[in-house]
Amino acid sequence: MDNRVKRAIIVGIGGHAHVWKKALDEHPDWELAAIVDTDTDKLEHAPNSWGINRKEAFTSIEEAIQFGKGPHDLAILVTPTYTHHVLAMESLEVGLNVISEKNLASSIDQGRQMVKAAKANPHLCTAAGTQTRYFPQNWSLKKYYLENKKTLGRITSLNFSYLYNWGKTRQGWRRWLRDLFLEDMAPHHFDLMRYLTDMDIVQIQGATNFKPTFSYFKGSSTTFAVFALSTPENYENPDNWIYATYRGDWQKKGKLQHTVELNYEGGELNLIEQKKEKKIEISIFDDAEGFQYHNKPVPITSDVEFNKKNYSSELFLLEEMSIGIDSKGKIQPKTNYNDAIKSFAVSRGIVESFETGKSVYLPKYWKNLLG
Ligand SMILES: NC(=O)c1ccc[n+]([C@@H]2O[C@H](COP(=O)([O-])OP(=O)(O)OC[C@H]3O[C@@H](n4cnc5c(N)ncnc54)[C@H](O)[C@@H]3O)[C@@H](O)[C@H]2O)c1
Repeated sequence: MDNRVKRAIIVGIGGHAHVWKKALDEHPDWELAAIVDTDTDKLEHAPNSWGINRKEAFTSIEEAIQFGKGPHDLAILVTPTYTHHVLAMESLEVGLNVISEKNLASSIDQGRQMVKAAKANPHLCTAAGTQTRYFPQNWSLKKYYLENKKTLGRITSLNFSYLYNWGKTRQGWRRWLRDLFLEDMAPHHFDLMRYLTDMDIVQIQGATNFKPTFSYFKGSSTTFAVFALSTPENYENPDNWIYATYRGDWQKKGKLQHTVELNYEGGELNLIEQKKEKKIEISIFDDAEGFQYHNKPVPITSDVEFNKKNYSSELFLLEEMSIGIDSKGKIQPKTNYNDAIKSFAVSRGIVESFETGKSVYLPKYWKNLLG
């Protein structure tokens, strides 16, 4: 590819699309080429506020490719979850690289089809929009571990809790999601747990997925689960698994906060987020039992994956995508579909575990698919 600015189509010009528009505006490798939405009323009024030529607003990706001013490099799918699978397959079919917002799809079968389509088009790049792994505070947890592996040793367990209150319900298409929290918010958490540990969530030991008795939600708002995590070489070796607790709630009353507790052989690394204030602290054990320890604050930095441009969040995803496109697909963004199906599988595994009352071994979902 020549050195020109890369051109993206935003598909679905609702709330979150504005975040992508801002990132495209800020990143020097990218510009917005076209917008696509099935809501023609919205489309009619969008070009002004989106700063885009009236002729570059379409009701489908195919139309944008056929009638728009190319070249087009990327489709960013910012549409309701149940449209992601079809739109992703269509994007790859017309030769576009693609970023799919979470949740990757609505069923394992759809997710598998997407991985296969990506594999059939190795010159194209895919990514999931799980940008929270690249938030400065989350990156800083990972960075501290990478820089202090010797002191911290191996990870031994993980406790993750996200306790917020989103009011009576969520509006628009989300109202129709059966497993609202699990499909909308929790996918970020499963992806983050994998990112922070460099392990996959390999088994749902047990899970419950419900709404509290007082809740006005129509879909479920609350998930409790216990997970086993493992590196791929130990999937079949439970002796080397570690365990994690997960508590996610969109209907919490009283104190609202998000915490990540990473327990290592040599210390504990904790993130506490409350009222938008984020703090990371490390407790380093001074004796073998951890009876004695000392605490230190950990700085929060946005040099995600040590990038010198200080990109985080969506900007870092666009950076990965730009590098990937220049490599003609050889260097895939880290959240490519091959990877993303493992985070997506957790949300489906929780549903299966809750409905059957049994533990669920997740690699069955991506069996014979990766590699
Ligand atoms: N990564 C994040 O932090 C984050 C945050 C918010 C939302 N999201 C994701 O972004 C996506 C959109 O969420 P939102 O809150 O912006 O929703 P929204 O309802 O505000 O916008 C969705 C837009 O998609 C359009 N649309 C629906 N079906 C379409 C189709 N088949 N083709 C083209 N356009 C279509 C709608 O008309 C609407 O304009 C979801 O997948 C959501 O999970 C991600």
